[in-house]
Amino acid sequence: KSMPTVKINSTEFISDDYTNVTPKIISYLGRNLHLQNDNPLSIVRQRIVQYFYKSFTHRGKPTFSVYDNLSPIVSTKQNFDDLLIPVDHPSRAKSDCYYINKDMLLRAHMTAHQSELLRSGLNNFLMIGDVYRRDEIDSTHFPVFHQLDVVRSQRKEQLFPNHPDLDIFEPTFDKERPHLFTNTITDPTKQSCHTLEATKLMEAQLKNHLIGLVQVLFGDDIKYRWVDAYFPFTHPSWELEIYYENNWLEVLGCGIVRNEILANAGPNNTIAYAFGLGLERLAMALYKIPDIRLMWSQDSGFLTQFQNKELNAKITYKPVSVYPQCTNDISFWLPENITIDTFMSNDFYDLVRDIGGDIIEQVKLKDKFIHPKTKKHSLCFSIVYRHLERTLTQAEVNKIHKDIENAIVSAFNVVIR
Ligand code: PHE
Repeated sequence: KSMPTVKINSTEFISDDYTNVTPKIISYLGRNLHLQNDNPLSIVRQRIVQYFYKSFTHRGKPTFSVYDNLSPIVSTKQNFDDLLIPVDHPSRAKSDCYYINKDMLLRAHMTAHQSELLRSGLNNFLMIGDVYRRDEIDSTHFPVFHQLDVVRSQRKEQLFPNHPDLDIFEPTFDKERPHLFTNTITDPTKQSCHTLEATKLMEAQLKNHLIGLVQVLFGDDIKYRWVDAYFPFTHPSWELEIYYENNWLEVLGCGIVRNEILANAGPNNTIAYAFGLGLERLAMALYKIPDIRLMWSQDSGFLTQFQNKELNAKITYKPVSVYPQCTNDISFWLPENITIDTFMSNDFYDLVRDIGGDIIEQVKLKDKFIHPKTKKHSLCFSIVYRHLERTLTQAEVNKIHKDIENAIVSAFNVVIR
């Protein structure tokens, strides 16, 4: 008997009980929206890279490298272990990631490449690409989105050119033997191996650099705030939020790279900052794009609005035309061993997307119910259907809705009400 496999771009991977990538998700690999010239994600990418060229060029040469074509198929070591993400961390859950098998997955963030690039000897680099996460379905969430990640490291002489007396590391830390020191993160201001001077200077450079970036993108008057955050791979860590159309919008996560990562990957004499930002968030806000699915549109009515434009041109997306939505509900009884709290809604969302494809605009939980007598659990979801380029007929929607009902009956053993 042959082993079950999943095929991704002509490579076959052995599948196991971790496998949850779907053919629909696999079909997004290689689209590289961030490299398609008339795609808004590509415009935002180019604007950010341009800001980097302006910030970090030495004698006419850029002092960083750009990686925008790294394969999204990574190991759990790259995505988690190398970044000090604990084995029981929730971000590893099968319900949150697209696993190929227990050792391989579609990267859940671009930070997955940080260690390997450090190990190859790089100090300053940008990584841009598609990332995959299982999540709810609405106008701002799509299982594939794009991130731009940065690492910038400095040696003592680069950080303190005029202060040879200052150091990156505490005197009690021996950088030749990092394993003899327990690098703690109990002090909210810094890692125990780093000096306060080095951490504070890196923090100031990191924050100035990022504020400069959002000002270049959104204008000098953009309102912003820093929020303390936690990432297993940086300490201290922050999130940057911008005030945009009456809401605080989280645009990026950042921090000082945990020294264990640098020490494991090679450079033992540097301190680094890193950040990761979501391109869809920025593009949707910058160009007033109301639905994340539009990024995937091949429709010329969408793409021509971003074609042959000056990189910094002010573009406001104009809806080509808005086609009506169509909402159908789906209610079902759960099998006896599943409750309304243990039901894997992300599995349900993936199945809905597998059958309905991109015409699924939103799936919302409408009602939960426990029958007073039979104690049976039931859920009701509303599925909102909308095609971005034409009007759907009710008959067409009913057919897909019926297919979804049939699929969930066989996949989850539920009974349609
Ligand atoms: N990888 C983080 C995320 O996806 C962002 C991040 C990158 C945070 C680098 C800190 C440093 O949310």
